[in-house]
Amino acid sequence: MKTMTDKKIVVMGSFVADLAFRAARLPVWGETLIGSSFAVGPGGKGSNQAVAAARAGAKVQVLSKLGDDAFGRMARETWAADGIDASLVPNCAEATGAATILIDEARGENAIIVVPGACFTLTPAEVDAVAQTIHGASVFLTQLELPLATVERGLRIARDAGVPTLLNPAPAQADLPDALIALSDYFTPNETEAALLTNMPVATIEQIERVAEKLQSRGAKNVIVTLGERGALVLAEGAAPALVPAFRAGPVVETTGAGDAFCGGFAAAMAAGNSLLECVRFGCATAGISVTRPGTANSMPTRSEIDALLRS
Ligand code: RIB
Repeated sequence: MKTMTDKKIVVMGSFVADLAFRAARLPVWGETLIGSSFAVGPGGKGSNQAVAAARAGAKVQVLSKLGDDAFGRMARETWAADGIDASLVPNCAEATGAATILIDEARGENAIIVVPGACFTLTPAEVDAVAQTIHGASVFLTQLELPLATVERGLRIARDAGVPTLLNPAPAQADLPDALIALSDYFTPNETEAALLTNMPVATIEQIERVAEKLQSRGAKNVIVTLGERGALVLAEGAAPALVPAFRAGPVVETTGAGDAFCGGFAAAMAAGNSLLECVRFGCATAGISVTRPGTANSMPTRSEIDALLRS
């Protein structure tokens, strides 16, 4: 892995507080279950990806909005602890959002309801106001926990300035406009999101290759479909599909932040000027460690932990 650049990765996205409930199984409608544990911690896809990139060694600037409340203070403490520049994140009248995360311990699966709150008031005009910061980025990274018009404006500003754009189309949206997909130099759905975006099956690697081709035909330059324990399927511009295997760093404890770990690690490796396949490998290693720990932002590994796994 090449060493990191001084240019910042700009991550435009959400912060919410994660309220994580673990139980032996998920309840059915109308049922009350006794769970095994509860934790409150920093979450939101944008913030999780910013933390992953920062711990992976990148310099990171976050663009978002917060409420003037306890969860907003949790965001600022989280970002300060990892050296993330939050100087362009204002407080607003809206409360900081929250996510209810239900973790099924037997199946290792989760279900989430996220209310984005304050960050969802970030407008295209407010993104215009920080265009100079986006112009100076090494990579521009965003997700879909903001209004689509805001996401599109950020991607457009980055694309027009020649800054590499990474769109993680999560949470899944079936009707994502092609205009937005076409602003992505790197498009990183997981298999569920890829299936929903294309209405195509994703059971086999061959089917996932067809899905990646479909997304490329809709405008994404490079498509990376993350596949959990199967790794990631990479369809680079002008190249044949390639499967990058997953890394197993220990027993799986929680997979909630895995996609965010991948995107943050991938962006950090990209900012340092590595090849696409090296970046995907680095992202897979980042995710491989994060799933061995509880929480989302709190599960992100450090650069030395990632390097050790890549060497092993
Ligand atoms: O990707 C995981 C994240 O999605 C959680 O941290 C939760 O906040 C939701 O936004």
